[in-house]
Amino acid sequence: MIQAKCQIVEKKQVAEKIFVMVFEHAVIASKSKPGQFVHINLGPGSVLRRPFSVYDTYRDTFSILFQVVGSGTNRLATYRPAQSLDVIGPLGHGYPLEGEKPVLVGGGMGLASLKLLHKRFIDSKKDDVRVILGFSSNVCAVEWPEADVCTEDGSLGKKGIVTGLLNEELKSGADAVYACGPEAMLKKVGDATKGKKIPTYLCLERYMACGVGACLSCVCETKTGLKRVCREGPVFKSDDIIFNETGEKKNSAKKKKET
Ligand SMILES: Cc1cc2nc3c(=O)[nH]c(=O)nc-3n(C[C@H](O)[C@H](O)[C@H](O)COP(=O)(O)OP(=O)(O)OC[C@H]3O[C@@H](n4cnc5c(N)ncnc54)[C@H](O)[C@@H]3O)c2cc1C
Ligand code: FES
Repeated sequence: MIQAKCQIVEKKQVAEKIFVMVFEHAVIASKSKPGQFVHINLGPGSVLRRPFSVYDTYRDTFSILFQVVGSGTNRLATYRPAQSLDVIGPLGHGYPLEGEKPVLVGGGMGLASLKLLHKRFIDSKKDDVRVILGFSSNVCAVEWPEADVCTEDGSLGKKGIVTGLLNEELKSGADAVYACGPEAMLKKVGDATKGKKIPTYLCLERYMACGVGACLSCVCETKTGLKRVCREGPVFKSDDIIFNETGEKKNSAKKKKET
């Protein structure tokens, strides 16, 4: 884990309220594994850092893909190339690479945690890797030509939810599943592979404060007790996680009291 001032070398708006931000730091870039995240300090006056998956790495740079959803991400979006932000990372445990026909399932911005994983599968000659992404509507213009896309309103790709596409992949022999997105979606992904002996890894995006295991604000319930998502996760085996009935976050009621 490194803490460093990282210079922004590129910022690109890829859709409404969605940005890719590229930072320069050779060590964070080289150490980052798929599914790990960085914790970013948003500058003077901001107390809590914000966590973002490492979206991609290239030479001495790493990038994040983020959506503006509140005060923190709004502030992040105001930063420009040549400015620097204090970054801690890479944090957490990422995805193990398993399976000959893996399928990657992204819901909304959850796709950000899967891009580097896809790259690593391709690097290791697992050309049968499939990517399926689901959005509520056609808001995300992220370039990922290999992905099958569906939207709830049918405005882009197939009409429906990702678990529909996942079931088709499971019928055609997918042998490992990796997913990141809203917890209600992750619960359905876990249900889809339950009892099928298909390793299924889910990346949880809980509210975080410290990001390094000290405050317990991110805990989730597992079959072996409470686990810190920032430290023991964010990636867990699906049959370890105990979701509530709807799959909603148990710590979602916590509100940040600062900007
Ligand atoms: C390990 C991890 C990786 C993440 N990776 C990414 C990423 O790659 N790209 C990205 O856009 N976002 C990612 N997130 C979510 C991101 O951290 C939050 O969107 C961000 O912290 C919101 O800060 P804010 O101050 O703008 O919003 P807030 O004012 O805190 O919240 C605004 C709205 O966003 C919702 N929200 C806030 N935090 C989360 C969260 N953790 N999960 C779901 N909804 C949330 C709130 O319910 C509220 O409706 C990740 C979160 C975690 C824990
Ligand atoms: S965010 Fe503090 S323990 Fe996970």
